[in-house]
Amino acid sequence: MEIVSTVASLKEAIKKFRDNGDSVGLVPTMGALHNGHISLVKKCIAENGCCVVSIFVNPTQFNDKKDLQLYPRTPQEDCKLLEEAGCNIVFAPEVEEMYPVEDTRIFNLGPVAEVMEGKFRPGHFNGVAQIVSKLFYAAEPDNAYFGEKDFQQIAVIRSMAKELGLDKINIVAVPIVREEDGLALSSRNRRLSPEQRKNAPQIWETLCKSCKFAESHTVAETIKFVIDTLNGIDQMRVEYYEIVNGKTLMPVQDWNEADYIVGCITVFCGEVRLIDNITYKRN
Ligand code: PAJ
Repeated sequence: MEIVSTVASLKEAIKKFRDNGDSVGLVPTMGALHNGHISLVKKCIAENGCCVVSIFVNPTQFNDKKDLQLYPRTPQEDCKLLEEAGCNIVFAPEVEEMYPVEDTRIFNLGPVAEVMEGKFRPGHFNGVAQIVSKLFYAAEPDNAYFGEKDFQQIAVIRSMAKELGLDKINIVAVPIVREEDGLALSSRNRRLSPEQRKNAPQIWETLCKSCKFAESHTVAETIKFVIDTLNGIDQMRVEYYEIVNGKTLMPVQDWNEADYIVGCITVFCGEVRLIDNITYKRN
């Protein structure tokens, strides 16, 4: 496994594989890797001759300075996990390499970037589009892998790729990996207190219960059921719960309104912001 920190050395490392006729897969991450990330890496390895994983805590997507400071950084453990998984190239640049000058680009990401996370984390998706576009230009992958845990992020990246004419890059969506108790794996889980960690699986539990509830209730009633249940748990506060068309991310009012319906949630567990989602319907 080769570890590189500049765009030039990344291009050089990839070229060796390209010259061999290998396809290139890219897995963008912010490090502090866990099995959720590794499932993307495994899929990337299975589908490409060259698997590139980037590790970069991207400052432009953090609208909360404290969140950026607190973001866990475990480069040595990350490289060990990637080596074991069979990754070919790790790209771990410094901030100055990715942003030699300030990135002032404002993307036109459309309505998919304005709802939910877009509403509560202003500027977040623009920062994601900035860094992922730079990674796409640097690695020029055939395939790029993203987790469904960040459901809205995938739609935003598709929109960015279309805007920039990078849509020949195949965006691959990978299912959420969960702990045995149902909690979606996240780098932020390690910031939960033991008490919060004990309660956090109720997010997924409640979403699962809401599927049954939805069989005999309206969309509005189902949203209320999820929010009220979770807000009733110690130290939990739902930031939003929305039930949306899985393609457009626009809220649905009726279960018959779309073929693909997903519920997207953000919950504060103490100070830790956790996100998750569930599919109600996919035809
Ligand atoms: P990060 O949070 O490190 O996540 C990297 C990728 O791993 C994302 O595509 C995310 O959806 C996926 N992922 C995280 N937890 C997962 C889980 N439990 N199951 C499946 N996939 C999971 O998302 C980012 O970084 C950044 O925004 C990034 C795209 C790298 C741009 O900076």
